Amino acid sequence: MADTEKVASGIPGLDDLIEGGFYPQSTIVLLGSSGTGKSTFAVQFLMEGIEQGEQALYVTLEEPPEQIMREAELMGFDLRKYYEKSLFFIHLKGKNFKRMIEEQLPQLVKARADYNIPTRVVIDPMTPVIWATQDKLEQRELIGKLFYTLKELGVVLCTVEEHSRPGETIGEDVLLPIYLSDGAVHLEYYPIGGAFNRTLKILKMRGVHHGEGVYPYLFARGVGIVVRASPVAMAEETTRSHTKTFEEALKTAQALKAPARVLDRIRLMEKNWDYDYSPEEALQILFNSYGLKRSA
Ligand SMILES: Nc1ncnc2c1ncn2[C@@H]1O[C@H](COP(=O)(O)OP(=O)(O)OP(=O)(O)O)[C@@H](O)[C@H]1O
Ligand SMILES: [Mg+2]
Repeated sequence: MADTEKVASGIPGLDDLIEGGFYPQSTIVLLGSSGTGKSTFAVQFLMEGIEQGEQALYVTLEEPPEQIMREAELMGFDLRKYYEKSLFFIHLKGKNFKRMIEEQLPQLVKARADYNIPTRVVIDPMTPVIWATQDKLEQRELIGKLFYTLKELGVVLCTVEEHSRPGETIGEDVLLPIYLSDGAVHLEYYPIGGAFNRTLKILKMRGVHHGEGVYPYLFARGVGIVVRASPVAMAEETTRSHTKTFEEALKTAQALKAPARVLDRIRLMEKNWDYDYSPEEALQILFNSYGLKRSA
């Protein structure tokens, strides 16, 4: 075991690329253009914590909590169940969130930090903070303050919208949050059809020998993003029906004494799997990420 306990990301496949997960009290920037899956990733990350008895804090600047929970539901995540029990929102609405970040937020965080419960924080999207001012120095102060204040609680994941197209260099406006964070993950979408047509790249992860490749990922409603960190060894047979594949996965998971939440994930995944291609590979990554050893 490592000397520092890592925080599991909740994204099947990802932890293999970052030596087991995020460092506690680190700040991670999730970068991607619209629709690449930033919010899906963020909710998945929070759910992983909630299901393990941690708390979750969702900092929002644009959408109210109700809308976030509604959208999460469409992704297959039931956040409502945890609302104000282990999931809390801070809605920094209004024009003057600059003052909120500087004055109110530290107080709110201080009050929570006193309880000493491991907490995951998400700021989704953080883009308005960057746009709040043209002044680079002020931007830097604002983002720095936000990170510094919130990481008192635990891992802080913030999403930043990027405007460049796949393959282009990263825009200047998003360099600052990347620079100020401990880790940065980049999501890209290549509209070429087929499985795993989206890719994930680790831009940086302080203190970690992280994977340096470009890793394909897919969406599986009910599970979220599934990353193919390495070529997945699969049984030869790929022609059987999806129903059969899921049935067998469930049976195997039960035999391996998988936690109920993992069984639920697989069932939800089955219900929502509307791709033509086989779920085999995604299931295999899911199994691996929960340490379930499946013999071929
Ligand atoms: N199960 C799924 N199957 C296929 N596509 C999906 C699935 N779940 C989500 N998506 C796609 O992912 C996109 C939404 O993902 P998400 O909201 O996480 O992206 P985002 O990066 O947060 O976007 P935005 O920048 O608009 O907030 C949608 O365009 C949707 O088509
Ligand atoms: Mg989003």
